[in-house]
Amino acid sequence: MHYQCSIENQQLRCSLIPDRDLTDAVFCCSAMAPLTVTDGGRFIKRVGSYTEIELPALSAGTSHTFFLAYTQGMPPANRAWLPQGPCLRTGKGIISLPPSETGFKPLAATEATALPQHVLRLAPQPVDWQPATGSVFIESLRFESSAFDCGALTAASKLAVRRQFGTFIDPDGFPATLKSADVATDGYQLQITTDGVVISANSYGGRFYAAITLLTLMQNHKGNIPLGTITDAPRFAWRGQHLDTARHYYETDTIFELLDLMALLKLNRFHWHFADDEAFRLQIDCYPELWQQTEMRGEGHLLPAIFSADRQAGGSYSKQEVRQLLERAAELNIEILPEIEAPAHALAFARIFPQTRDPDDTGTETSVQGYEKNVVNPAMPHTWEILAKLVREVGALFPFGHVHLGCDELPANTWSGSPRAKLLMARHNLQTRDDLSGWFIAKLAAMVEENGQRPAAWEEAVLGSNGGIGHNALLFSWSGQGPGIQAARNGYDIVMCPAQHVYLDMAHSDNPDDWGANWAAYVSLADTIAWDPVPNPEIADKIIGVQGAFWSEFTTRDEQMWPMILPRILGIAVKAWQEDDIRPGTLAGLAVHYKQSELNIPAGTLQKNTE
Ligand code: ACM
Repeated sequence: MHYQCSIENQQLRCSLIPDRDLTDAVFCCSAMAPLTVTDGGRFIKRVGSYTEIELPALSAGTSHTFFLAYTQGMPPANRAWLPQGPCLRTGKGIISLPPSETGFKPLAATEATALPQHVLRLAPQPVDWQPATGSVFIESLRFESSAFDCGALTAASKLAVRRQFGTFIDPDGFPATLKSADVATDGYQLQITTDGVVISANSYGGRFYAAITLLTLMQNHKGNIPLGTITDAPRFAWRGQHLDTARHYYETDTIFELLDLMALLKLNRFHWHFADDEAFRLQIDCYPELWQQTEMRGEGHLLPAIFSADRQAGGSYSKQEVRQLLERAAELNIEILPEIEAPAHALAFARIFPQTRDPDDTGTETSVQGYEKNVVNPAMPHTWEILAKLVREVGALFPFGHVHLGCDELPANTWSGSPRAKLLMARHNLQTRDDLSGWFIAKLAAMVEENGQRPAAWEEAVLGSNGGIGHNALLFSWSGQGPGIQAARNGYDIVMCPAQHVYLDMAHSDNPDDWGANWAAYVSLADTIAWDPVPNPEIADKIIGVQGAFWSEFTTRDEQMWPMILPRILGIAVKAWQEDDIRPGTLAGLAVHYKQSELNIPAGTLQKNTE
């Protein structure tokens, strides 16, 4: 069976040459966003971006061409927009078609920017570095015996072994001393002389990051570490990276690798997005059917092969795996923020629990991702019964004491066709959809607070004339910085994650050979640092951090994530840690130094240099 698809005149041109006569073939695929057929077939059905197209009778050896277009008028930008997991369904079974070549492929790299001699090959750069003359060769460190009990140094040592950096702590190593000092949380001072290294810190994070700095300098300066004194502390307490493991199931080993990478860049919050329209992937005990029936998608499952390269894809995370991830994260000074999604982005949830929707709802609202009926209804008692148990169990599993509730992208006109929602609105004097959304999220947040935890949500959670989620919540400003600035003025704590700068699923460039989405922007390495998380000093104390995001709509294999996250996560780390940006060009130079072999990250990762 010959099959090929390419981008032509802003459409997808697909051609098939079957090796047998087929009278009942249905072309099935998923894509970046909802698709329709413009020629050569008949649209049958769609679930979000998963689409089925009936083809006319096909004759063996004769080519048939059909054209697909994105329904929202988006011109396909690059190879990531070609059909995913294409197949033909026939009366006699499924015929898989060869997938388009997927994943980021290194584009012609621009010349690496040479690093000036005096630059410490370290990202993020420290607050202060006072160089002395000369350098010292350090292959490993020998700490005073008491320091061997220091968990932070042991954790760094184990990280060095995992990443194949070699031995960090060795009885024959260069002398090193650990001291207490009055420095900020996660801050440290490092004195590097020919006599030895002195680490001064007074927190686990400070000792750990001092070790990470030494480890990095040992790698990037090939052991010849410049002498001098480094004084360092983070700009923001929240230095995050998000991963969407709902659209694509990532092996836990991949998450372990991401945690290692985050730690090497001094990031300290992992935002774990394991629930969305397409799946709920945490093995909770209160409602096992939720993950058991949504972890796999494809033929014979509740949801079709949305965002899948093969017809049966998925998985879920056991509590044992969660505990292992938590243990590793703690070693790496990382807290894990779990996210459940409500009231929207909840197709899988609502399919498992139809009693969370008003059966008399006549609404036909569709989400931007093309889903219908993907919102739970605040007027249904089951909604609250189920969500209460869910937030309790999820919250109890993660010691961070924060639960992210979602609350993004409620489709327009949601609940307007629900008689029960209308009654609820009348009872509570709520006028608009946003008022009801605010009422919903405030009630859910109160449940989290009753469990002794802090609610978090996307920026939309403040909507509604009653003030939305409430001021104890932490908000994530994603559509840009504007909503975060406004909410900060209104007294909310904000994590800045503007899509135009930190959404690492965006393509790096407009090159059609690139890979990624573009609805927010093309995001180069330079773009990840070309913004100010605190554009207005008045709200400085309300902006508590910076976070990168990686959404997995068109990621069908774990390894496709790396060249999207790297090198741009360097920019996230720089923004989250440093007060001032390093000079243009330095980051590109550093990106080269953080190349694949040094971080031991899978192939292709750092070959692109966009600055
Ligand atoms: C989001 O990107 N909808 C948070």
